[in-house]
Amino acid sequence: MKKVTCTAPVNIAVVKYWGKRNEDLILPINSSLSVTLHQDQLKTTTSIAASRDFTEDRIWLNGKEDDINHPRLQSCLREIRRLARKRRSSGSEDVSGILNYKVHICSINNFPTAAGLASSAAGYACLVYSLAKLYGVEGELSEIARQGSGSACRSMYGGFVQWLMGEREDGKDSLAQQVEAETHWPELRILILVASAEKKHVGSTAGMQTSVETSPLLKLRAESVVPGRMAEMIESIKKKDFESFGQLTMKDSNQFHATCLDTFPPIFYLNQVSQRIISLVHRYNAHYGQTKVAYSFDAGPNAVIFTLEPTVNEFVEVVKRSFPPASNGDPFIKGLPVSPAPLSQELTSAIEGDACPGGVRYVIVTQPGPGPVQSQDPSLDLIGADGLPK
Ligand code: DP6
Repeated sequence: MKKVTCTAPVNIAVVKYWGKRNEDLILPINSSLSVTLHQDQLKTTTSIAASRDFTEDRIWLNGKEDDINHPRLQSCLREIRRLARKRRSSGSEDVSGILNYKVHICSINNFPTAAGLASSAAGYACLVYSLAKLYGVEGELSEIARQGSGSACRSMYGGFVQWLMGEREDGKDSLAQQVEAETHWPELRILILVASAEKKHVGSTAGMQTSVETSPLLKLRAESVVPGRMAEMIESIKKKDFESFGQLTMKDSNQFHATCLDTFPPIFYLNQVSQRIISLVHRYNAHYGQTKVAYSFDAGPNAVIFTLEPTVNEFVEVVKRSFPPASNGDPFIKGLPVSPAPLSQELTSAIEGDACPGGVRYVIVTQPGPGPVQSQDPSLDLIGADGLPK
């Protein structure tokens, strides 16, 4: 039995991907750009074993067996095996013959799926990276991860990553590329404000399909707004210009949610807690007369806040004040440590509003981090000697 274990990160888009021009190949209608989050706080771990004793390909997600015949899963398996055969025929050897063996795949997240945090990007990135390690395939892999879930292609790199939409029909030029490494902007901090869970919302795949069919605003966005915004965003990252980075991030999130409202029937991802966070961020920035924090929301009500060290300490206090934690014993702040920061009288009155107890369940503090890695730590291995989940 040959076995590998790898981990892969979550990413948060600051120029959003929303809408496909090809559903099967997962080709987008616009380019997008994201920040890869640190795996110390959020990651997927995947172990894959190949053995001549296995009779079929199988997969377990968070301990439960899942359907291996899912078309997107099959695309990734097929494409990586195709690449492995191609690379092998051009030189390298499949010494143990594992390309003809079936695989067992075991994958877990270190964050609760119930928190509504996107797990498909980290999940597919981890699957593709682990398969590549198993078969000894090197080089460009984001094109395959993209076929699992669009946003997954961006999780194949660390730091600041763009997904170039490409032009070709076969998608060969629809790839992710690193813009800057995770070490580029060491002061940057990311807070995930997990909003109180509600009923399940419309998933990204179905949501963006309806938007493409019905929203004239989405077409305008893709054709006339995103190209310029990508260039500006890259420049603001390269210059570490938070004023510009933060404003573009908020405007892009708002425009994405505007296209959701422009979709017919409309899609609502933001709830009252999200709206309060938006207003809180604007009041905080107005108090200082500059953009010190910025928000972004994906297909759900959780807020992602970007800020810089040391503002992070004060802003965490601001969040606690506006959303007094429910005293259920669970830690309210998770992840990177923050130092207590007293709030001035002026700031307190500037952000004053109705407190919303329990509106934010908890906050995860993190920073930009590296792309997928192969683990050498046997304690992370999810598959036992019998080829089944441990
Ligand atoms: C709002 O990548 O989950 O998070 O390609 O259909 O799997 P599929 O969609 P997915 O969409 C992500 C949408 C988003 C914005 C983004 O991450 O760019």
